[in-house]
Amino acid sequence: MELKNVILEKDGKIAIVTINRPNALNALNSETLKELDLVVDNLEKDDEVLAVVLTGAGKAFVAGADITEMKDLNTIEGRNFGILGNKVFRKLETLEKPVIAAVNGFALGGGCEISMACDIRLASVKAKFGQPEVGLGITPGFGGTQRLARHVGMGMAKQLIYTGDIINAEEALRIGLVNKVIEPEKLLDEAKEMAKKISANAPIAVKLCKAAINKGMQCDIDTGISYEAEVFGACFATEDQKEGMTAFVEKRDKCFKNR
Ligand code: CAA
Repeated sequence: MELKNVILEKDGKIAIVTINRPNALNALNSETLKELDLVVDNLEKDDEVLAVVLTGAGKAFVAGADITEMKDLNTIEGRNFGILGNKVFRKLETLEKPVIAAVNGFALGGGCEISMACDIRLASVKAKFGQPEVGLGITPGFGGTQRLARHVGMGMAKQLIYTGDIINAEEALRIGLVNKVIEPEKLLDEAKEMAKKISANAPIAVKLCKAAINKGMQCDIDTGISYEAEVFGACFATEDQKEGMTAFVEKRDKCFKNR
């Protein structure tokens, strides 16, 4: 896989994906989105990888969709660009492995949006979040109008999107946009540590938890509960359920096989 703007590294059972256009603060142009699409496909197929960390090279996480590329788009091209970003982010959100965003700096527009398509957001003290699109004459286009309200509630989402205000990591923590704020030099290590901790658990159970939580956020509680019953039952068909419970009863370390 030839990649110019994205770096994919593997470290045991985890993968680290770095968006790497530091000269443009990792702004997402079509080329980068297409590379991310390939990377997510690769991660989905890679049975060795059980958890993923997503970060940005240099001082930014992602400073948004690429404004230079968008500037002269017409309606159809703008719509297609939005569809491309949304397709990739939705693929990331539904990847059957947890994704932790290690937000090292600016997460604006498309950057805030890609972080929200991840399962967990860890933020550097230096991180900045916002949806400044209305100041550019556009709406958020890679899921911001949909995911921000789901993360922080409708009132706060509307405030952030209508004002275009940029908030710091502490404020993002206060409103529930991020899980934790971390010193910059420790951010990546802590994200990797969390990914490793997750990857030591039963992978099929983790995958089904992700599917059940994601589904449950989009449907009524009765549908969600009945989906949970299905995935809970499905776990009992796995070797890892037998192993996890037998190891507990036998008071020994467990050894999950992702089966
Ligand atoms: N698109 C294209 N290039 C970008 C960019 C973006 N979103 N953000 C930064 N860059 C480029 C700058 O143009 C600059 O390039 P040059 O060196 O060639 O001039 C380089 O990255 C460094 O940026 P700055 O000099 O501006 O760095 P700074 O530290 O002074 O400011 C910043 C940082 C406040 C993040 C500022 O760069 C900025 O405001 N960027 C735009 C943020 C933004 O509006 N994002 C939303 C984009 S729209 C969107 O994302 C739509 C959507 O939902 C899909």
